Amino acid sequence: MSEAVRSLGTYYLQTYGCQMNEYDSELISWMLEQMHYAPTDDPATADIAVFNTCCIRDNADQKVYGRLGEFKGFKRDNPNQVLAVSGCLAQKDGEEFLQRFSQVDVVVGTHNLTEVPDLVQRVQRGEGRFVRVERVGDSFSLLANPRNTHSAMVTISMGCDQWCTFCIVPYVRGKLKSRPLEQVVSEVKRVVREGRREVMLLGQNVNDYGRDLTPKKDFGDIIRALKGTPGLDRLRFMSPHPAYFTQSVIDALADNPATCGGIHLPVQSGDDEVLKRMRRKYTSAEFLDLVARMRAAIPDLSLSTDIIVGFPGETEEQFQNTLELVRQARFRNAFMFSYSPRPGTPGNLFTDQVPEEVKSDRLQRLIALQNEIAVEENRMLEGQTIEIMVEGRSKKDATRLTGRGRCGRLTHFQCEEDLTGRLARVRIQKAFVWGFQGELEACESRLGEWSLVPPAPSIPVVA
Ligand code: 5AD
Ligand code: SF4
Repeated sequence: MSEAVRSLGTYYLQTYGCQMNEYDSELISWMLEQMHYAPTDDPATADIAVFNTCCIRDNADQKVYGRLGEFKGFKRDNPNQVLAVSGCLAQKDGEEFLQRFSQVDVVVGTHNLTEVPDLVQRVQRGEGRFVRVERVGDSFSLLANPRNTHSAMVTISMGCDQWCTFCIVPYVRGKLKSRPLEQVVSEVKRVVREGRREVMLLGQNVNDYGRDLTPKKDFGDIIRALKGTPGLDRLRFMSPHPAYFTQSVIDALADNPATCGGIHLPVQSGDDEVLKRMRRKYTSAEFLDLVARMRAAIPDLSLSTDIIVGFPGETEEQFQNTLELVRQARFRNAFMFSYSPRPGTPGNLFTDQVPEEVKSDRLQRLIALQNEIAVEENRMLEGQTIEIMVEGRSKKDATRLTGRGRCGRLTHFQCEEDLTGRLARVRIQKAFVWGFQGELEACESRLGEWSLVPPAPSIPVVA
């Protein structure tokens, strides 16, 4: 915000959940800054507090309810604070929020983000408390306020039409709504012009993109349209659905040099019967065949995934099939979850729910196996040099910088100079489950030229 414009106060914004929510938070923060509010890390004194929430699993709900309790105290000392709850849990619980939590003033669902400024002002004017969870409107017209100087998220679609039986997303985010191709391309070009060299294309199901547009488009069209965008070094996307990963999309990715090998491809289960009950539309053999075709086309492919254990009816044998798929697919990383029944989804109605202790035992066994594989895969890179996009100082050790390779792995290395937003070549010294510890070999100067490390001292020019 320009110094010339005095801020009217401060806002505190807390985000839960997925990248989609991170992106929505960037939109909310842009709107609040347009109202001349400045960000603060102090929830107690903020004039506006926003909770952008998630409801994908029950523990996500509980986290929000717990944290809201603290705001009751903040509000006693700061009675003019306006507390808004937005996002998926707001969409799911709606009116209930106002009844359960007297400290909450505004509830805005996933389709009504644009109403945040107006509703906040109405509360400030003493007009009451408000709930907006209608399935109208969209936020495609808003600008994001990226917190990152080198990387930006760009939404390509909202909602999802898959109705996987465990998932609450289609209920709270609505049907697939794709953004026009030209809008996506021009937003990517805008953020790249503003200096972001990495772009993450976002959608609940990115490769179902464009089915609802006239004329129809597909995800490959975006990847092809972005090929050769000057300044776009790294192109990422999340999350794709394996059943929609066509050969044409694979070819488009392989043909765009900005495509990063670190691709997230949620598998959910390795058992065909469970996949069917989850309504995932592929078998484990089809998934493994897709992985093989992707590896053939994208040589630096480094897959991560999501897996759910203990889906209703899952037997030990079916769980063993998931372990077998994990052994064969060799994911670099996996987000592993114990199934959490979500109200309103078919999975919640299945009568053969798996007991908690069985779910947690399976989860532990899956994590142990995947951790072994991650370390083995990471060790193969020891001694090699990889390109890192520097994200900033490590939170644990301020003498270290931290960043990610094109493969998506986290890498820490010692460096006094702050290289945030620049590319660096780092030699991998030691591999861990989470990524690497390495040694800086070369980095870009501020002007984008590469220099070896430590930079050669400049020699005075003698006349
Ligand atoms: N229980 C457990 N995990 C879930 N996920 C989605 N819904 C549930 C649920 N009900 C997981 C899936 C998805 C990720 C974002 O969260 O693995 O890919
Ligand atoms: Fe949920 Fe993803 Fe399935 Fe859509 S494709 S219903 S977001 S798990």
